[in-house]
Amino acid sequence: MDADHRHFGLLVRDLDRAVAAGANDTILEDQIRLIAHDALLHFDKEDALHTRYGYPPETSTRKLHNEIGAILRSLLRKDRDSLAIDGAAGRKWSLPPAQLKVLLVSHLIYEDAAFRDFLTRERTLG
Ligand SMILES: [Fe+2]
Ligand SMILES: [Fe+2]
Repeated sequence: MDADHRHFGLLVRDLDRAVAAGANDTILEDQIRLIAHDALLHFDKEDALHTRYGYPPETSTRKLHNEIGAILRSLLRKDRDSLAIDGAAGRKWSLPPAQLKVLLVSHLIYEDAAFRDFLTRERTLG
């Protein structure tokens, strides 16, 4: 899982750099799709671990996977034209790159850390 997290760190960094460099929408959309796709696979793997170690389904981590997963799935279902909508102030993203980053980073810092704490407690008690 840590390797996955490092991988996300690099993908998010690349996206940041692409935004900062003013990359065109096609490039940004491709990067966002790549991150969304990988994040869904990652959640599936983590969900399997949660089940295996008896992590309760009502924890915020598991709820967050479902919530973020639903957002990412709907994003991947969209075609290129509806992924970004032209607004008065320029391009408006259905899921802006900055928001995608916040979702993934907060997932790492808070939610996965909570699962790690759970595992540590279980091992200590068990
Ligand atoms: Fe994770
Ligand atoms: Fe997670």
